[in-house]
Amino acid sequence: MNSPAMQGLDLNVPAHVKNARLIAWVADMAALCKPERIYWCDGSQAEYDRLCQELVDAGSFIKLNPAKRPGSFLARTDPSDVARVEDRTFICSEKQEDAGPTNNWMAPAEMRATLNPLFDGCMKGRTMYVVPFSMGPLGSHIAHIGIELTDSAYVAVNQKLMTRMGKAVYDVLGTDGDFVPCMHTVGAPLAAGEKDQTTWPCNPTTKYIVHFPETREIWSYGSGYGGNALLGKKCFALRIASTMGRAQGWLAEHMLILGVTNPQGRKYHVAAAFPSACGKTNFSMLVPPAGFEGWKVTTIGDDIAWIKPHADGKLYAINPEAGYFGVAPGTNTLSNPNCMASLNENVIFTNVALTDDGDVWWEGMEQDSGSKPAHLIDWQGKDWTPEIAKETGAKAAHPNARFTVAATNNPALDSQWDDPNGVAIDAFIFGGRRSTTVPLVTQARDWTEGVYMAATMGSETTAAAFGAQGVVRRDPFAMLPFCGYNMSDYFQHWLDMEHKLESMGHTLPPIFCVNWFRKNAEGKFVWPGFGENMRVLKWMIDRIEGQAQGQETLFGTAPTYAEINWTGLDFSAEQFNTVTSIDKAAWQEELKLHGTHFEQLAYHLPPQLLETRQALEKRLAEA
Ligand code: GTP
Ligand code: SPV
Ligand code: MN
Repeated sequence: MNSPAMQGLDLNVPAHVKNARLIAWVADMAALCKPERIYWCDGSQAEYDRLCQELVDAGSFIKLNPAKRPGSFLARTDPSDVARVEDRTFICSEKQEDAGPTNNWMAPAEMRATLNPLFDGCMKGRTMYVVPFSMGPLGSHIAHIGIELTDSAYVAVNQKLMTRMGKAVYDVLGTDGDFVPCMHTVGAPLAAGEKDQTTWPCNPTTKYIVHFPETREIWSYGSGYGGNALLGKKCFALRIASTMGRAQGWLAEHMLILGVTNPQGRKYHVAAAFPSACGKTNFSMLVPPAGFEGWKVTTIGDDIAWIKPHADGKLYAINPEAGYFGVAPGTNTLSNPNCMASLNENVIFTNVALTDDGDVWWEGMEQDSGSKPAHLIDWQGKDWTPEIAKETGAKAAHPNARFTVAATNNPALDSQWDDPNGVAIDAFIFGGRRSTTVPLVTQARDWTEGVYMAATMGSETTAAAFGAQGVVRRDPFAMLPFCGYNMSDYFQHWLDMEHKLESMGHTLPPIFCVNWFRKNAEGKFVWPGFGENMRVLKWMIDRIEGQAQGQETLFGTAPTYAEINWTGLDFSAEQFNTVTSIDKAAWQEELKLHGTHFEQLAYHLPPQLLETRQALEKRLAEA
């Protein structure tokens, strides 16, 4: 047998690693990938510092000016490796119908036959890092363990910030604990004696992001970026976890979780799903504006929620992550002051611009300094000036440039963010990026209508995914790229929650639908957004408390102008009408598109959703 020992490769298993299945798997994968060496990460600060220094020495990291941005680094990727690759992402269930029409599918045996030759020798000349991590507080009954094998030191250091990574995971794992095996390679083996010709090794032509939901495995080939490579995030915490949640009766969602405390000290918890680059990080760190003295918003999570029904009949949510991998462009002290404060030190920036004094810059930061810098090095390492930008349209930072930072950097971090029991959810919010049609906020009249709103959500596509931008696509529950099984079965799973919780004697949280992105005839956003979204959040709490009556609309219950607190904001009833009006013709068209969407999801589509659509059509015809 071609064992690593026979190749002269020492597995170097540390004494604290006692899980036989893990050791056997690492041995098998080392035999397949043929790395130069194996390194078991312990998650210590010393290890993090050493790996960052190695990345600096290799030219992959630029150390930022410690006087400006202590403990921070900049990485620039290959221009071909800047976002998730949805068309290269696969759900390999035994039956195609279990992956459903919204996922790419290949039979597991066929996919294994495709991947095996690609992974054979894929780590030649490189180190295989063994990265142990917990999604969720270590040992929490809601948490799960993953082990990522990767040939990217960038991935190892990012995982330290994004997850609970390190030695303590092995204590929880013990001799026979369960883990999700996560295989990752940049897909750029080196010949004997060969040195990297690039500071961002990846495979420019071949990429595979593969999930085997039945055996709970992840195999990722060819990309080093974000959700393609940090396998605890979208691959595990959403695609694999959603299939676990379906089997075990819980939910894995693309949702932020926030706490909102009113001046009387009463606290609510809200979970909100917006598609990629549509404002989750912003909303989770919201700073209440003038007129909301005494109100406080605190962050539990900014991207993913694992939500489980509890014996008390309520839904409890944890953030399985321990850090933020957030969009940099557009972030400034006006749009998101808590986020800017989180980025003061110990940050890994990817694909932002470098200033002449060794700091970072991205589009939107001119808001803070009053002007754009006279000179920068852009995300591709080229000179950038405002003049060049004017001429060529060149962006200094890539539109999907990101920061990686530990949650503990966030000044608005919720005191319960790490609570192994999670927080009880009082409301769900769903929202897409729609320049027309969808109003600022409405509340679903019942659970089914809420599931309908989420299931039919549309959004204009963003730079967070490789491909076209700005076209409306249906993004049900903001989960289109992240659901690990058939979307219609997922709708059914959500519908089933109602009976499950009601049988436990609990009423479900209300569901709201929002749209911060309506534009006027000049193509400008009408709603000021960001901190001002507090005004909408407050109305939701008034609804929960029975303080706001609202008014019936076609698409749920909406606030009247008078029900919103306008103190400190100049926003007229006419402007309010621009972002809340329901246009009959637009909605006739919208419902048609819902129909087309449902036709595509016909297999196992819950009939309640078609009935809800019919009821909406009837209401519209009578309007
Ligand atoms: P992922 O990390 O990709 O899942 O995205 P996210 O949902 O966390 O997105 P994020 O909060 O980083 O928002 C990204 C973009 O949305 C930025 O360009 C922001 O400027 C913009 N944005 C966020 N909130 C608002 C808002 O209330 N109004 C408007 N107009 N834009 C917003
Ligand atoms: C998203 O695209 O929704 C993200 C960024 O949160 S990534 O981790 O790259 O998927
Ligand atoms: Mn996301």
